[in-house]
Amino acid sequence: MSRQPLKVGHRGAAGHAPENTLLSVETALSLGVDVVEIDIHLSRDGHLVVMHDARVDRTTEGCGYVRDLSLAELQALNVPTVAQVVDTVMGKSALMLELKVRNIARQLVELTALTPEVPVFYASFLHSELLRIRELDPAARTIALLDGVPVSPAAFAADAQASYAGIAFDSLEPAFVSSLKAAGIGIFTYTVDEPRDIAIARALDVDAIISNFPDRL
Ligand code: G3P
Ligand code: CA
Repeated sequence: MSRQPLKVGHRGAAGHAPENTLLSVETALSLGVDVVEIDIHLSRDGHLVVMHDARVDRTTEGCGYVRDLSLAELQALNVPTVAQVVDTVMGKSALMLELKVRNIARQLVELTALTPEVPVFYASFLHSELLRIRELDPAARTIALLDGVPVSPAAFAADAQASYAGIAFDSLEPAFVSSLKAAGIGIFTYTVDEPRDIAIARALDVDAIISNFPDRL
């Protein structure tokens, strides 16, 4: 019999609330997620903040690159810090922290070390940043994200010394899944919103499903 995959709320619960906001995180918690996924950038003055895009234009009333804005400017646009999200989920869920930029691994590991009671998964498409996380915290749970099906199915995750592969749902071919499992690599899949697709991911016995609508999982 299949296990119950972890329920991961994407950008909080982006199907129900503005993505990557504290409201979205709180909504995900109210829907009973196991894990809240957020995206991380760095402000001009060196604070870890929660935003998907490199620019704030799409999701806020501001404009410009996150890296060019101060924390005060970002907070005025309702952009939370990672520390605020950690405080919000404490005792309620785990976190999946996606590093969208380089050179924040040490700061992120130091921040999460302050609250060991909050379980953390570190994820990135920038696989060398996951190696950096692994150096800093040998026991870290890391997720190498991938959109596509490589020739060598497990090499990318092994190269990243990742605990898990985070595979785009459209790339979740059964043979790929089998190869990852045979290599001892756990599987997250993103972003799975349609009930039919959720059923397919479940049937493939993945470890975790990431959805904008975690209530559907
Ligand atoms: O973490 C999986 C997924 O969130 C990666 O894609 O673009 O939604 O950050 P994206
Ligand atoms: Ca993400």
